[in-house]
Amino acid sequence: MTGRVYGSLDAFLQQNGEVRLPCTEDTSILAQSVRIGAKILPNRLVCQPMEGCDGKADGTPDILTLRRYDRFARGGAGLVWFEATAVMEEGRANPRQLWINDGNIDAFKAVVESIKSTCLKTNGCEPVVIMQATHSGRYSKPHGTPAPLIAYNNPIFEGDAPIPKDHIVTDEYIDGVRDALVNGARLAEKAGFDGVDIKCCHRYLNSELLSAYTRPGRYGGSLENRTRLLRESVEGAVQSSRSDFIVTTRLNVYDGFPRPYGFGAAAEGTEFDESEPVWLLREIHKLGVKLVNITMGNPYFNPHVNRPFASGKYTPPEHPLRGVARMLKGTARLKAQVPELTFICSALSYLGAAAPNVASAFISQGGFDLAGFGRTVFANPDFARDIITTGGLDSRKLCLCCSKCTDIMRAGGTPGCIVHDREVYLPIYKQLCGGESK
Ligand SMILES: Cc1cc2nc3c(=O)[nH]c(=O)nc-3n(C[C@H](O)[C@H](O)[C@H](O)COP(=O)(O)O)c2cc1C
Repeated sequence: MTGRVYGSLDAFLQQNGEVRLPCTEDTSILAQSVRIGAKILPNRLVCQPMEGCDGKADGTPDILTLRRYDRFARGGAGLVWFEATAVMEEGRANPRQLWINDGNIDAFKAVVESIKSTCLKTNGCEPVVIMQATHSGRYSKPHGTPAPLIAYNNPIFEGDAPIPKDHIVTDEYIDGVRDALVNGARLAEKAGFDGVDIKCCHRYLNSELLSAYTRPGRYGGSLENRTRLLRESVEGAVQSSRSDFIVTTRLNVYDGFPRPYGFGAAAEGTEFDESEPVWLLREIHKLGVKLVNITMGNPYFNPHVNRPFASGKYTPPEHPLRGVARMLKGTARLKAQVPELTFICSALSYLGAAAPNVASAFISQGGFDLAGFGRTVFANPDFARDIITTGGLDSRKLCLCCSKCTDIMRAGGTPGCIVHDREVYLPIYKQLCGGESK
């Protein structure tokens, strides 16, 4: 089933009967500041991490990367969640994925300074900036061809062509990934980021381990073992950083397929079951985590769960609104059980013009705390300022959820919005994917 991004609140309300998302006209709550430990977010609007695959070969930001963060900074969001940044070269998802290391830290420092000063100049406030530290695991492609490093063989992904066993990483290798993530946190702090995200989502290595039910050894089997890499990396990052440095995680709480291959599913069937995620959230809170960014699904395998879309490579088995409802209501179920954490939601873009109204209602009811926008940020980097100054999104600048940004990425290019940023990205799309934009 496909749908159409809502161009107005009324258009959304006509279809909301089925999923019954809360909705309010008053969006002023989104302009409120929020404290995370010693840091203050000037508003509740978040630029979710949006990878541009446009770094240099040595991992440093390049021209398009700088342009993207300049645009995000001008938009005035209270939190800029800086995209997936590798902490080990072999864990890069593509040869142009950002990669932070001792040799290039000054380049990252310059970007963070520029995000803060540009936002201050344009909007009179400084955003909190958090770096997403990653190892791409099964999706590693550091030199442009797949070089998977997996936690276990997963027949759902691999079908009848299983990845050879020597690609299954050893416990000792994972110990090294933990050390690299902790080192990544150190580098992020040194570069001036306000915090680090020990990325644990979208089936990259840390996230894949959450469902390593059948893996032997210290990182598989029990819930304690499956969450060990995340918990120990968080612990290491907290212990080695200043007390005001934010250590957080973008967490997949639900993969969208059954055990023993998916995390966050009930023992029987594929429905979301929050019991294991709740345990994990409480554990990382004890370790010092105050903020979490909730997501679901796998962008390669079931993107309709991860980023509900209006058009894409396949027709999803559910209406996109159902995907949005799963994500937002699922986040609210977690918040109800771990209210001491500050929660960011994902997957608002499909709601189009209704996104600020739905997010405001959830926040007012205590369902989550911060509204995370992903593809919207590519389409309209000024989304936060528009919401704060006008109460809503400009319907002419909505993300259409057409999946073309992802098509560029899958074709090995540098993703962006071919509709609203067409001078830069339409030629890239045409060159790599053929075809015209609709
Ligand atoms: C082109 C593209 C790049 C993305 N890059 C990242 C990333 O670096 N890290 C991450 O955690 N999620 C990434 N995502 C996922 C988004 O942050 C977000 O979760 C998803 O698009 C759903 O939110 P939305 O409906 O607001 O777009 C990316 C998504 C797209 C389409």
